[in-house]
Amino acid sequence: MKEISITSKFSVYDTIPDLPLDIQNLMEQAVDVRKKAYAPYSNFRVGTALLLDNGEIVLGSNQENAAYPSGLCAERVAIFYAGAIYPEAKILKMAITAASDTNTTKSPIPPCGACRQSIAEYETRQDVPIEIYFMGELGAIYKSDSLKNLLPFMFDKNFL
Ligand code: THU
Repeated sequence: MKEISITSKFSVYDTIPDLPLDIQNLMEQAVDVRKKAYAPYSNFRVGTALLLDNGEIVLGSNQENAAYPSGLCAERVAIFYAGAIYPEAKILKMAITAASDTNTTKSPIPPCGACRQSIAEYETRQDVPIEIYFMGELGAIYKSDSLKNLLPFMFDKNFL
């Protein structure tokens, strides 16, 4: 028997003004679109902003449904929109922020497992890593250089 270990690396920024300028803009757009979330059931609002290699910024917020599983997370709203409208474009950077209507989220809130798998599809397809920045409502912002840090052993087309 032998053991393997896998490490994930994240950069930590204390506040939005500490981010590179283009990411400050991206995160501010994520904050704005977060407020447009349709989240009457969870009262938990998530906003995502994507920067594409064609210069476009694509936004998404979570969209809930009375039949709960029919709703969709902000990250997938954004990446599926990008895939639908700009099928040739690569997603370079992704900013995510989440806030509750009932309490103040202060720790970085990462994308859920299903969103990670969906992001993995795009990262694999475009063969360019996606920088992912995520935060709560306040507090630190974590940055990953690639989806791979968030989803070790990811399942992709290479296994098929
Ligand atoms: N949500 C997202 O939009 N992204 C995530 O990565 C985690 C969860 C949404 C789904 C649901 O509308 C609400 O947050 C509570 O789970």
